[in-house]
Amino acid sequence: MSSSNMNWKQYFDQKAETHGASVKSSDYFDDDSFFMQRDHTLRWLGELQHKEILDAGCGVGAFSEPLVKRNTVYGVDFSQKSLEFAAARGLKTMTEDLTALPFEDGKFDVVLCIGVIQLIEQHAAVLKELARVTKPGGTLLIQTLHRGSIQRKLLKLFEQSKKFDKMYGMDELKQLFDQYGLEDMQYLKMYHPFKFVTKGEARTVSDLFCTSFAIKGSKKID
Ligand SMILES: C[S@@+](CC[C@H](N)C(=O)[O-])C[C@H]1O[C@@H](n2cnc3c(N)ncnc32)[C@H](O)[C@@H]1O
Repeated sequence: MSSSNMNWKQYFDQKAETHGASVKSSDYFDDDSFFMQRDHTLRWLGELQHKEILDAGCGVGAFSEPLVKRNTVYGVDFSQKSLEFAAARGLKTMTEDLTALPFEDGKFDVVLCIGVIQLIEQHAAVLKELARVTKPGGTLLIQTLHRGSIQRKLLKLFEQSKKFDKMYGMDELKQLFDQYGLEDMQYLKMYHPFKFVTKGEARTVSDLFCTSFAIKGSKKID
């Protein structure tokens, strides 16, 4: 494991040790912002039943917990301490690094990766892995920090935090989705601290205030 990954693993083990099953273990600002993001994102994803779902970098499993009742949800993370709480929420947990997943090609109907790639140096390798394990016709959804928002630029002036190390442009992820065999990409945009979201194309004026976004695409059927 790279030294950066080892640092993050220790960081999230420590968080889970301190905050337990709370979303604070996954570095959410507070419960409100977590539930706002989760509810909008899961609604956008649509009704899911009897699906095989991967929550990649699941942390304590709070994001995909509502999916557990009607689906089989696998949770993969390298923080073993976080996975104890994810398992208690009903996820089938596995301690793995996302750069090399132990699943066959096309295993999952839906792959979620929420708030993870901003921590990862090898994000293209992780995206490739996530696309590989997505079933043809299935959905890959990635949520991360948006580069270029005015709020984040202001925050960066005042806060030297590891959290803001890496951010992404919407087009940048769209290109990688395209490269790894996904199509019909769509965005869900969030504008912290405002409590609303919008759906739509990249490159609108409102993107200046978009603090994080989710992109989803369908795996092409050959
Ligand atoms: C900010 S938390 C988000 C947790 C969860 N997705 C959520 O939204 O509640 C990021 C998680 O990604 C995990 N993670 C980061 N890099 C990883 C990697 N290379 N392999 C496996 N897990 C990783 C961390 O351990 C942590 O639990």
